[in-house]
Amino acid sequence: MNFPELSGGPHRSIRSYELRQGRLTRGQRRALELHWHEYGVNAPPGMLELDRIFGRRAPRVLDVGSGMGESTAAIADQHPENDYLAIEVHLPGIGALIRRAVLARLRNLRVLRADAKDVICNRLAPASLDEAWILFPDPWVKRRQHKRRLINPELVRALALCLKPNGRLFLATDWEDLAGHMRAICDGEPGLQNLAGTGHFAPRPAWRPLTKFEQRGLRLGHPTFDLAYART
Ligand SMILES: C[S@@+](CC[C@H](N)C(=O)[O-])C[C@H]1O[C@@H](n2cnc3c(N)ncnc32)[C@H](O)[C@@H]1O
Repeated sequence: MNFPELSGGPHRSIRSYELRQGRLTRGQRRALELHWHEYGVNAPPGMLELDRIFGRRAPRVLDVGSGMGESTAAIADQHPENDYLAIEVHLPGIGALIRRAVLARLRNLRVLRADAKDVICNRLAPASLDEAWILFPDPWVKRRQHKRRLINPELVRALALCLKPNGRLFLATDWEDLAGHMRAICDGEPGLQNLAGTGHFAPRPAWRPLTKFEQRGLRLGHPTFDLAYART
């Protein structure tokens, strides 16, 4: 099988991800080989037609940088009434998510291998999403790396426009400095209202599964910071 290429957009010089050539496990490779055609989005460049991709009309949730797909698959399984679009660049993570989707026989999940910036800024129709998540984005901790952070005013503006009125945006991180950066940018976006009040973090939402990744952070003494916004 030809594995899904990283699709879309001009490849910008500043990327929010590192294209690690992580090895695929046997399970991930098998999931990609046998089930990419069911779960992968092979859309042509240009606007994504979500009704066509999911084969129905339903509330739509976007997971930006789905990683190994733990949260995406668990929540999609709990909410068959919603459709979940995961965007990820890292092939082993995509294989892992598809593996989970197959095991849980999910019908409401699709994954796109693409740069989320390009998708959000150029390929999603205005007011096409009911909810979006950016959970534990790469922190790019060193000062000289801050420019690589996924969350910047341009991206947040574009994401706000993709949300329906009163649609929700949820973010989480275990890096305090990044949490403050995300809050400042989202609080400054006129299309978003901080549901906890400007300048405040939100309580941890009960729907967000405690992933291995978050558990490890907690063990290292990193508390988690949540943010919740509504599209005004
Ligand atoms: C630290 S992981 C978190 C994964 C997951 N959200 C979670 O909570 O476990 C961040 C993920 O975002 C992905 N990522 C970073 N920038 C991206 C981009 N521009 N487009 C798509 N995925 C991206 C990375 O490949 C990585 O898998």
